[in-house]
Order: sequence, then C-alpha cells, then structure tokens
Amino acid sequence: MLVGYFPPLLLSLAALVLVLVHGQLQTGFISIDCGSPENFNFLDPDTGISYASDGAYINTGINSNISSEYAYPNNPNLPYPLSDLRSFPNGDKNCYTLTPAAANCSLYLLRASFLYGNYDGENTLPEFDLYLGVNLWSSVKFRNASDVVTTEIIGTAVTDTISVCLVNKGTGIPFISALELRPLNNSIYGTALGKPVSLVLFERFDVGYANGTGRYKDDIYDRIWSPYNSPSWNVVSTSLEINSNGNGYRAPLEVMRTAAMPSNGSNRLELLWTADDDDTEFYVYMHFAEVQRLEKNQTRKFNVSWNGSMMFGPFVPRHLYAATISNSEAFTGKEHRISIHQTDDANLPPILNAIGIYMAKQLDELPTFSEDAAAVLNVRTTYQVHKGWVGDPCGPKNYTWEGLECNYDVSLPPRIVSLNLSSSGLSGMISASFGNLSSMQSLDLSNNHLTGPVPEFLEELKSLKFLNLEGNQLLGSVPKELRDRSKAGLLTLRVDEQNLCSSGSCKKKKNVVVPVVASVLSAFVLSVALILLWRLRRKRRQAEADVFDGEGRPLPSKNRQFTYAEVLNITSNFQDVIGKGGFGTVYLGKLKDGTQVAVKMLSTSSKQGSREFQAEAELLMRVHHRNLASFVGYCDDGSNMALIYEYMANGNLKDYLSWHILRVSARTSRTKSRAVLMHPH
Ligand SMILES: *[C@@H]1O[C@H](CO)[C@@H](O)[C@H](O)[C@H]1NC(C)=O
Ligand SMILES: *[C@@H]1O[C@H](CO)[C@@H](O)[C@H](O)[C@H]1NC(C)=O
Ligand SMILES: *[C@@H]1O[C@H](CO)[C@@H](O)[C@H](O)[C@H]1NC(C)=O
Ligand SMILES: *[C@@H]1O[C@H](CO)[C@@H](O)[C@H](O)[C@H]1NC(C)=O
Ligand SMILES: *[C@@H]1O[C@H](CO)[C@@H](O)[C@H](O)[C@H]1NC(C)=O
Ligand SMILES: *[C@@H]1O[C@H](CO)[C@@H](O)[C@H](O)[C@H]1NC(C)=O
Ligand SMILES: *[C@@H]1O[C@H](CO)[C@@H](O)[C@H](O)[C@H]1NC(C)=O
Ligand SMILES: *[C@@H]1O[C@H](CO)[C@@H](O)[C@H](O)[C@H]1NC(C)=O
Ligand SMILES: *[C@@H]1O[C@H](CO)[C@@H](O)[C@H](O)[C@H]1NC(C)=O
Ligand SMILES: *[C@@H]1O[C@H](CO)[C@@H](O)[C@H](O)[C@H]1NC(C)=O
Ligand SMILES: *[C@@H]1O[C@H](CO)[C@@H](O)[C@H](O)[C@H]1NC(C)=O
Ligand SMILES: *[C@@H]1O[C@H](CO)[C@@H](O)[C@H](O)[C@H]1NC(C)=O
Repeated sequence: MLVGYFPPLLLSLAALVLVLVHGQLQTGFISIDCGSPENFNFLDPDTGISYASDGAYINTGINSNISSEYAYPNNPNLPYPLSDLRSFPNGDKNCYTLTPAAANCSLYLLRASFLYGNYDGENTLPEFDLYLGVNLWSSVKFRNASDVVTTEIIGTAVTDTISVCLVNKGTGIPFISALELRPLNNSIYGTALGKPVSLVLFERFDVGYANGTGRYKDDIYDRIWSPYNSPSWNVVSTSLEINSNGNGYRAPLEVMRTAAMPSNGSNRLELLWTADDDDTEFYVYMHFAEVQRLEKNQTRKFNVSWNGSMMFGPFVPRHLYAATISNSEAFTGKEHRISIHQTDDANLPPILNAIGIYMAKQLDELPTFSEDAAAVLNVRTTYQVHKGWVGDPCGPKNYTWEGLECNYDVSLPPRIVSLNLSSSGLSGMISASFGNLSSMQSLDLSNNHLTGPVPEFLEELKSLKFLNLEGNQLLGSVPKELRDRSKAGLLTLRVDEQNLCSSGSCKKKKNVVVPVVASVLSAFVLSVALILLWRLRRKRRQAEADVFDGEGRPLPSKNRQFTYAEVLNITSNFQDVIGKGGFGTVYLGKLKDGTQVAVKMLSTSSKQGSREFQAEAELLMRVHHRNLASFVGYCDDGSNMALIYEYMANGNLKDYLSWHILRVSARTSRTKSRAVLMHPH
C-alpha cells in the first residue's frame, strides 16, 4: 500500500521493476481511480497497476476527496485509489461505460470499491445499488465511514461495451471510489448451468498465509487474496516454484506456496459459512499443491465433502503442481460446511492452499432489443439529448431513460413502446432512427425546433397510436397513410395546421390572403427601414461627418441567394441555436470565408408566399447599407426560407438596427398571422 509520497520518476521505476519482476503486463486491464483530477494517471507502486481518471468512461457526477480524517497520513494503509471518489447527486441512474479490448463473449472480472470517508461532511452512510448492465450486481452498504466495501463479479461480456450503473434508491447519494476490469481465461470459473450466470465473490482466501496484505502482485488476473488462518491450523510452505501449467486459474505463486493443515493430529480441515439468503447458489474453487517433500512411506490423500456428502476424492495433491477442484452442482441452503478429510489409507493430514467461494447471479434480465437500443442511441447522439440517458434504455426496469416507456415480456428483450421528447430542444430534421423503433405506439416530438419535411418513414411504425408533431417548423404534409389511419380512428394525430392538409389544399388557402398582406408589409418594412436609415445617417452625420459619405453602397457580391443545401452546410445542420421564438429560430453559422452568420429560418406558419418573401428579401438587400451591413443573403427554395445576417457575438448598433427592423416588421404582421422575422434575443 502507498505509504508516503513517491516522486514520479521513482514511481515509474517501481512500476517498471514490478512489471519486469512479475511479468505482469496488464494487458486489457481497465483501472479507474474514480474522482481523481482529469487526465491524472497514477502508478500504484504497490501493485504496479496504472490507474486513470474516469473522464473517459462517464460524464456525470462530481469529484470529491474523502475527509482528511480517513485519508493519508491518518490512514497510512489506505490504497491510493480510495482517497477520492465520484458521487452522483443527480439522476437515479448513472453509468460507467467500459469497452474491454477483447470484446464480446470473453470472460472478465469486474471489481468496484467504495470508501465513504465522510467525503460530503454529512457523516451519513448512504445505501445504493450497483448494476451490471440491467442486472443487479450488489447492494452497497457500509458499517462505518472507514469501511472499505469491495465487490467483485466474474462474468462473460455479451456486448462490446459493459455498463456499470449506480442506482439511487432513495437511501443516499451513490458514489464509487475505484472500478477495475480484468480479462480472464475463458476456460476457468465454469459452472454447470447452461444459463448465463456470473459469479459474485463471497470470499477468496490465501489459506495459511501469515504475513502481508494479501493483494498479490503476481496474480496475472489481479485477484485479491485475503490471508486466512485458523488457530487450529498449521502453516506449511515451500520456497520452490509451483507449476501452474495447465491450470487456467493461475493462482499466484505466493498463494500456492503456503498451505494449512490441521495442527493437533486431527484428520480434517473444515470451513463453515452462513448464507444471507437460503436461495443463494454457491460455487467453490479449491486450489491444492503439495508443498512438502514426502518420504516414501508418507501418504497425503483426502476426500472433500460438503455437508456430509462427497464432493470430490480421494485426491492426492501433486508435489509443486497446482490443481483446482470445484463443485459442478451449486450449494444452496443456510449453513455450509466444507470438510477436507484424510482417507483411511493415508498417514498425513489434508492440506488446503487457497479457496474462492462465489455466489451465482443469474443474468436473466435482458437488455433492450438491440435495434431499438441502437435507434435511441442514435437519437441521443443526433439531438444531443441530455436527460440522464445513460446505460441501457429500458433497464433496469424502474430506471428507464426519461421520456421512454418499454414493454417487458418474459424471456424477450424489452421493446420501446413510447418516446416523449416534447419540449426537449430538438432541432434539425426528424431522424430516420425514429423509423427503426418498430414497436413504438406513442411518439411525442411536440414543441421542438424540428425542420424539414414530415418524413415518409413514420408510415413504417405500424403500431403507432399517438403521434404529436405540433409546435415545430416542419414542412409538407403528414404521409397519406398516417392521415388515413387517423381518419379511421386508429391513430391520434396532432400536427401543426400546415402539416395536416395535402400539398394542394394548403396552397389554395395561402393564395387568397397573402398577396395583400405581403404588399402592405413590404411597404411597411421599406418605410421603417428608410426611417431608421435616415435617422442613423443623421446621427452619423452629426457625429462623424468626415466618415460618412451620404451615399448607400452597392450590395457586396457576397450578398446573394443561397440554396437550402448551402444553408445546411453553413449552419452544420442547424447545430447551434442562438435565438428562438414564436416566429422561428435563429441559428449560428459560418460562411466558407469564415464569416460568422446568424441564419433565421422562417417558421412554417409564415412560409406561405414565396414570391412575397423574395420581394422582402430583395428589399432588405436594397436598403442594405454599410451602416446596416449585416444582411448577407437569403434562401428560398419554395419550402425553406431563411434570412442570413452577419453575426456579432455581442451585437452593436449595426446589427441592433437591422434586427430591430425585422422585429418591427414581425410585430406588425403578427396580427395578420404573417410572421416574417423575430428578434434574436
Ligand atoms: C483532491 O486532492 C487532490 C490533492 O490533494 C487535489 O489535487 C484535488 O483537486 C482534490 N479534489 C477535489 C475534488 O477536491
Ligand atoms: C462479437 O460480435 C461480433 C458482432 O458484433 C461477431 O461478429 C463476433 O462473432 C462476436 N465474437 C464472438 C467471440 O462471439
Ligand atoms: C469500521 O468497521 C470495520 C468493520 O466492521 C471495523 O473493523 C472498524 O474497526 C470500524 N471502524 C471504526 C472507526 O469504527
Ligand atoms: C512471516 O514473517 C516472519 C517474520 O518476518 C517470518 O519469520 C516467517 O517466515 C514469515 N512467514 C511466511 C509464511 O512467510
Ligand atoms: C485439535 O484442535 C481442535 C480445535 O482447536 C479441537 O477441536 C480438537 O479437539 C483438537 N484435537 C486434538 C486431537 O487435540
Ligand atoms: C487458458 O487456459 C488454458 C488451460 O486451462 C490454456 O491452455 C490456455 O492457453 C489459456 N489461454 C490463455 C489465453 O491464457
Ligand atoms: C517413514 O520412514 C522413516 C525412515 O525412512 C521413519 O523414520 C518414519 O518413522 C516412517 N514413518 C512412518 C509414518 O512410517
Ligand atoms: C449443512 O449442515 C449443517 C450441520 O452441519 C446444517 O445445519 C445445515 O442445515 C446443512 N445445510 C444444508 C444446506 O443442508
Ligand atoms: C473417501 O472417498 C472414497 C471414494 O469415494 C471412499 O471409498 C472413502 O471411504 C472415503 N473416505 C472417507 C474417510 O470418507
Ligand atoms: C420497481 O418499482 C416498484 C414499485 O415502486 C417496486 O415494487 C419494484 O420492486 C421495483 N422493482 C425493482 C427491480 O426495483
Ligand atoms: C410528454 O411530456 C410532456 C411533459 O414533458 C407532457 O405534457 C405530455 O403530455 C407528454 N406526452 C405524452 C404523449 O404523454
Ligand atoms: C435502422 O436499422 C437498420 C437495420 O438494423 C440499420 O441498418 C440502419 O442503419 C438503422 N437506421 C438508423 C437510422 O438507425
């Protein structure tokens, strides 16, 4: 354990020496010191293991240090990674995502460590749950603030990523101090069960070891072996090598070199334990190697039994060769007694070198149906949804992603049946991923800033019973099939008016009202612009008569019409919203020459009357002046209309004025439901 400060060079040397001495290459190890400062890597001189901070594995939570009372130097034996932690005051479920190098279908060991250490000054011990993916791994409880809780699980990865989730069950804020993943040889820790099962560590003992801390540097799998001895046992040991070839468990040399045997002429070794829960299924792995050189007339031979029933034997441990025996049928019940007893034809007492006792955990909760999961993950990425969407979308059952509802069927992966992303700040087009949520019954995307057409692929959602697209800037009408289903009463459809009618009927309506409004409006915009321009000129004349030449400048060549594709390009698919309101949304963009621009997309409610819009845009270009020089161009491809201005982060007189013109025009038109523009603020 770390005792004292080691300069970095010394640390690296120590680690190098350890790596060389023990041949421990840490291949595939993931070692996270949760809560340590960002980009902080630490080589633990005791184990030679390199710990990384957790930024690459999680983006929620708060870093803290344990209180000094529990830290070094008051606690000189504190393992380094336990001096800090990451806590999760927000959200019910927070997850680390690990991507093991040898991805799916390989066996791994995961270890999570927790030390409360009164990090929050509250002196209240929290209690929370730890999940491996969607399955409960362990409930974390503490006896006191200095209690180090470590839980270990051995299992097979069934996906490319492993999520370890901390769940707040209302009994205190979850936190974690360290998280470690170690790849194992696939041939070990097998159980007789065909079902996917993982093994949670109950106890792992280095039997007969008297000295040291018990974490062995030469364990290629970095298991922690607790020293264990009994007053009625004698330690026997060897300084010779123990051959582990052919024994995939690879219990470390230091562990196998020592063993225990009964001390006072008794012929049996007994181990007893009590289960918390009678239904717990135990699997026991016992490691043996003869450590004494026996005379010709000496025989060590024993049987192993559990609660009186024969488990294995008779067995003769081979001199300096490791062997492991385990039960193929789980042990269940309250009290457990393993007895290793000398056979009648032997004249030496039995020995035991090491033992691991594990509890089987059925991984019977299934993760979300993979296509559904892929689709919502894609939605999360596309729209940058920040709603605590971490870990599996549907699981664990009571901790689904916010806005999501799933259907849980026994023995089938959960399906997503409802998605509510109402008022979630979504912008851009409706992602094709929604069309992959094939079991969806209810989709609510209302009150966002979605643009583009109402996509055809929504027709593919055959189970859809509720669809709400209101309050967006979508164009075109809802696919015919959905309208038909709505008419037939099979689908509750809520969309903005312009998305309801077929394209033909929409056009007719608009042609009646717009021309009059538009010409009134054009005249208004022109007069306001001219008044402002005149005012400004006058002001400028008074203030800086030498600068202002009194003449409007010709339009710069960059002032022009853009295609919708160009607008998409300029705004990187409407990535950054810099202003929004009832009349549309303003996006930040960048022209090819690097000029920052503000792109005002006209809301769909004002999208009728392309000719009038163009007339206005051209008018704005005509009134354009050096002192109002923020108008860059416009886009009008019939269904998408945008005005593009130079963007100044904090604004100045120029852009204030130009936006102001636009606001005035928008205001006057509001009464006639013919919005043109809005103020960006
Ligand atoms: C924890 O302590 C270390 C060094 O003592 C310090 O660098 C780090 O900023 C502290 N972390 C927090 C969250 O206070
Ligand atoms: C891992 O998954 C990939 C597909 O994701 C599959 O092709 C491959 O066979 C899997 N590997 C194992 C060992 O099952
Ligand atoms: C905390 O609990 C552990 C385990 O029960 C015990 O060994 C230790 O002495 C306790 N420490 C304090 C400060 O009570
Ligand atoms: C434990 O340490 C003592 C004293 O250092 C030593 O005599 C003894 O041999 C050690 N025992 C083992 C099993 O290493
Ligand atoms: C040996 O020790 C055990 C435990 O201390 C005791 O129960 C047993 O009676 C002893 N056997 C003999 C032969 O002394
Ligand atoms: C796994 O263990 C077996 C022996 O049980 C051995 O033959 C094999 O080489 C081991 N695989 C690895 C990757 O270490
Ligand atoms: C085994 O043989 C040795 C001599 O080689 C003798 O001293 C010892 O008593 C014998 N032990 C037993 C158990 O017969
Ligand atoms: C094992 O044996 C003990 C007595 O030695 C008994 O109390 C216990 O119930 C047994 N356990 C099972 C699971 O049979
Ligand atoms: C050990 O097992 C063997 C084989 O099952 C059996 O014959 C023998 O009686 C057992 N010995 C003891 C002491 O239980
Ligand atoms: C989920 O919540 C319900 C009701 O609150 C509760 O009865 C149930 O045990 C919870 N299930 C899990 C897995 O936590
Ligand atoms: C979606 O959530 C909002 C609140 O965020 C709520 O008003 C609305 O009714 C929900 N939609 C559905 C379909 O439940
Ligand atoms: C929809 O699912 C198909 C098949 O699983 C996949 O190929 C496609 O990439 C998915 N599309 C989206 C947008 O997620």
